Amino acid sequence: MAESGPNPAELHQIFEAAVQASDHRLCRPWSFILIPPELAAAFADVLASAYMRRCQETGVPVSLQRCARESAKAFRAPVFLVVACRPLLDVPVPAHETVAAVPAATQNLLLAATALGFRSKWVTGPSCDGSGSQAGTGSRREGQHRRLRPPGNGA
Ligand SMILES: Cc1cc2nc3c(=O)[nH]c(=O)nc-3n(C[C@H](O)[C@H](O)[C@H](O)COP(=O)(O)O)c2cc1C
Repeated sequence: MAESGPNPAELHQIFEAAVQASDHRLCRPWSFILIPPELAAAFADVLASAYMRRCQETGVPVSLQRCARESAKAFRAPVFLVVACRPLLDVPVPAHETVAAVPAATQNLLLAATALGFRSKWVTGPSCDGSGSQAGTGSRREGQHRRLRPPGNGA
């Protein structure tokens, strides 16, 4: 197994694999956001802020321990890929088909990472909700977000 995250050439292969996914009418309903190691601290802040906002929205008291756990997630892997789905309404394809293309691309991406010798993990959950939009990625909270921890050996 590789000891660090993928280099640019490997990332290129990984993304190439992702965009070969079945995609009815080639809608390209995905966005990939790469978070390299040098942005881990900024990503940690995004995760912590998202946690605080969730607490605010739900009235749950903030736990500093929990907040620290959220931030720490940003250092669990050398590279994170956020996969966002943006269902398109103005295409002649049912919305569920455009949505289905995104996990297909995600799986391709994970398989490519594995083939290159990287460990990876597909992660969802509350810490994904809204983190993308907070990071300025243009993702919308009501969209479907999938946060990944490929490719890397620290998952
Ligand atoms: C859509 C989707 C969402 C997932 N979300 C999570 C998650 O939030 N946390 C988690 O531990 N595993 C999640 N998994 C499963 C992991 O990606 C992985 O397959 C599972 O943890 C087994 O991996 P392991 O053998 O390395 O533990 C998800 C899988 C899919 C397909």
